[in-house]
Amino acid sequence: MCGIVGYLGNKKACPILVNGLKKLEYRGYDSAGICVLEKNTLAVKKDKGRVKNLETLDGINSLEGTLGIAHTRWATHGKPSKDNAHPHMDNSKTFAVVHNGIIENFKELREFLGNNNYKFYSETDSEVIPNLIHYYYSKGNNFIKSVNLACKDLKGSYALEIICKNEPDTLIVTRKDSPLVIGTSENGTYISSDIPALIAYTNNFCFLNDTELALITKNNIEFFDCNLNSINKEFSNVELSAESCDKGNFEDYMLKEIYEQPNSIRETIGNTLNGEKIVFDTLQLSKKYLSTIKQIYIVACGTAMHAGLGVKPNFEKFCNIPVCVDIASEFRYRNPLIDENTLCIYISQSGETADTIAALKLAKSKGAKTIAVTNVIESSITREADYFVYTHAGPEIAVASTKAYTSQLVLLNIMALYFAEILETISKEEINKLKKEILLLSKKVDEILKNTDKIKRLAKQIYNKRDVFFIGRGLDHTVALESALKLKEISYIHSEAYAAGELKHGPIALIEKNVPVISIVTNPDLADKTISNIQEVITRGATSIVITNQNINESNFDFVYKIPETLEYYTPIISVIPLQILAYYVTKEKGLDVDKPRNLAKSVTVE
Ligand code: G6P
Repeated sequence: MCGIVGYLGNKKACPILVNGLKKLEYRGYDSAGICVLEKNTLAVKKDKGRVKNLETLDGINSLEGTLGIAHTRWATHGKPSKDNAHPHMDNSKTFAVVHNGIIENFKELREFLGNNNYKFYSETDSEVIPNLIHYYYSKGNNFIKSVNLACKDLKGSYALEIICKNEPDTLIVTRKDSPLVIGTSENGTYISSDIPALIAYTNNFCFLNDTELALITKNNIEFFDCNLNSINKEFSNVELSAESCDKGNFEDYMLKEIYEQPNSIRETIGNTLNGEKIVFDTLQLSKKYLSTIKQIYIVACGTAMHAGLGVKPNFEKFCNIPVCVDIASEFRYRNPLIDENTLCIYISQSGETADTIAALKLAKSKGAKTIAVTNVIESSITREADYFVYTHAGPEIAVASTKAYTSQLVLLNIMALYFAEILETISKEEINKLKKEILLLSKKVDEILKNTDKIKRLAKQIYNKRDVFFIGRGLDHTVALESALKLKEISYIHSEAYAAGELKHGPIALIEKNVPVISIVTNPDLADKTISNIQEVITRGATSIVITNQNINESNFDFVYKIPETLEYYTPIISVIPLQILAYYVTKEKGLDVDKPRNLAKSVTVE
């Protein structure tokens, strides 16, 4: 939540900061602000609302300074307002700070600073930071020492950029449990919460570890550990194109990301299936180790958790190991039974989700090995896990996850086969058949994307409904869950998913005339059962919408969309596509902002 950008170089800072913020809006978009060092004063422009409002603020275009910091906010402490927007300054207006994260002990720090005559003008936790830095500065410490001492007092998470009006050519940045990347080019040093915001300027990046600090001056960057000992850090080239971070010819990021899926699935597969045996560059497990595993946990939040549900039966079937899928925010507080015979897999598109990372740390502390599956290169989770595997889906910017989900499903399915291959729990022939089918998936997704008119028409029929229900059995139920989430999070239509057999135990009471019930029917063994459940809602007046690869009697339903066939294990990767498209077009019909739905943020770094 919240995105930060910083710049020090030989160009005007303001346009670079504002462009960077636009790329980070997926992290939060209720208020935005910048601070540029103008001669010897810190000029702050900020307000509630989107980054585009910031561009219209008085005087913003006449800022000439080449050093600045910027922030786009997702409110935690204090409502979206000008006062609560970042940057925040200390009382003497010597320091300006932007902060991504949460200061858990801000009340104590406020009290301490209050007792030292500091006043507060916002309701945020962040405002203590510039004042605390000033407190140490006023005691005779230099800039970096003051920042360092202030950070030692902070409990919680932070990525910080700090500038000081007395130090015209200096920017200090530091982080703990919130992301921060530093990029350089001949035009200066760029800071951001993530790479896509900077890719237009540089490919050369360095990532700070927790509690490290960087002292950035016009011609130099010095790195320090938390005790201000000088340390060496490497910059490395990150292969990411500027186009992959842009909307291109698409109206919205979400639509672009939906259409990228044939390619992102291919990227996820990468070289893993090229050889006789499955290979992951960053994950090598032995038969000896895997044979000790009695239980697998798959832990994640939101859409990533749905991806976990979508592979659980496949892991169990292929590897013969029980799998439990859990929500990270539940798992971490319920003292799960974990020991060295447990393997824990964490899925996180961003690699920054606070609950998922905390759940990972918990398993590690109990002796389990941990594998992180993430999309973001060098994200925090990669540093915490014993092993990590990248999904390589490319930057996902729209808040609603689409291509990350299908890539997670593909990658985890390959991982299940990798385990099975090592454990020899299924035959070579069976594994080859499964691998072959994985290689066909992207073509099948492409077929759907070329055939969307019917779904667009359906969107026109349901966009003004109050409730939509999704049902399915087995893996189809997991797609129902994901599709209901997709629809509700961007269109604000109340949507619920149920295991088809559960409808009669309560939810069917909600079915009345013309309520859309969307059924996913892909498993031949379960199709008849689900069709009986559809019949039950038709009898109660529902509009029946069916997504299927089965030969059903289409005249029995109001709407049928046929999807390509695949092996039963991989149906979620196919059946979710029309439902992503449906959520997108329903939202467009309602005239809402698809990429930035209300109240949400893509990277959830709060617990
Ligand atoms: C947020 C996003 C979801 C995402 C979830 C988990 O709620 O809006 O799209 O599924 O966080 O995020 P992660 O980055 O851990 O996959």
